[in-house]
Amino acid sequence: MSATGNQARRRFLSKALIDSSSKGSAVITGASSGIGAIYADQLASWGYDLILVARNRERLSTVAKRVREDTGRSVEIIVADLSDRGDLAHVEETLRTNASITLLVNNAGVGVPTPFLAADIGKIDQMIELNVTALVRLTYAVMPAFVARSKGAVINISSALGIAPELLNGVYGGTKAFVLAFGLSLHKEFSGRGIRIQTVVPGATATDFWDISATPLNGLPAEVVMDADEMVEAAIAGFELGETITIPSLPDVADWETYEAARQNLIPKLSLSCPAGRYMSAHQR
Ligand SMILES: NC(=O)c1ccc[n+]([C@@H]2O[C@H](COP(=O)([O-])OP(=O)(O)OC[C@H]3O[C@@H](n4cnc5c(N)ncnc54)[C@H](OP(=O)(O)O)[C@@H]3O)[C@@H](O)[C@H]2O)c1
Repeated sequence: MSATGNQARRRFLSKALIDSSSKGSAVITGASSGIGAIYADQLASWGYDLILVARNRERLSTVAKRVREDTGRSVEIIVADLSDRGDLAHVEETLRTNASITLLVNNAGVGVPTPFLAADIGKIDQMIELNVTALVRLTYAVMPAFVARSKGAVINISSALGIAPELLNGVYGGTKAFVLAFGLSLHKEFSGRGIRIQTVVPGATATDFWDISATPLNGLPAEVVMDADEMVEAAIAGFELGETITIPSLPDVADWETYEAARQNLIPKLSLSCPAGRYMSAHQR
């Protein structure tokens, strides 16, 4: 579907599904385009007021205006570069002090296209600041209020490359593997205290991300690329289903359950007092 067709469909769905009850405010990072802008449309029609964060004021304002017109929700914008500690501190302060916030969507992220040594180390550093450090600091800022109210949710956007880091730049995959591991741990620590944690694991999704990462999307086979609206709709359906991990394209959830069962089986064997037999030298045997 074309970008214009998608937008029309999204506006139709927004108008058709508007929920007039308020669910509090959702903070969405990286909401000026792509997946974050679609979350803005969907969450507003689902009953959230919005606080949208990104660097590009003009694009943020366009998204905010559209969402206000379509849903009547309150939409604020915060212009911030989340890889800049000063800007990040401002968003952290909002998360700490605005009592209306009930949902944080950690979506802002960038990729580095090239193999490790061909990449600029400064760009790699900035990617880690945004994909990992900002995500952790924003979660750390909002969580005390959620704990105090025994209510709140965090949605973190990981990537299929977090499970398959061999496929592209390994540091990008590593940042997304971090998001996945962090989400598992947050779920363990906070799910019993009324707080929802969802990690979304998209495969290739048709957004500007690919052009910005200088990896043309049309270089990928069409059958591995998902429409961004459909990806977000699936992710929100996964949230409604109460999923901890949502992999929008995975045809059979049993495959994830098998993978997870194998991981759980390993856990009690990963820390034991004796080295494994295969590492004992011949004279010790
Ligand atoms: N597209 C895919 O194939 C795919 C697959 C798996 C996971 N993901 C993940 O999905 C998330 C969203 O990506 P997307 O595909 O929607 O890409 P996108 O269209 O490029 O959107 C990225 C968003 O992040 C914002 N952003 C970038 N750098 C920022 C910074 N330093 N500070 C604040 N905001 C910043 C951008 O806005 P400004 O430029 O205005 O700041 C934009 O709103 C990312 O975490 C990405 O890793 C994407």
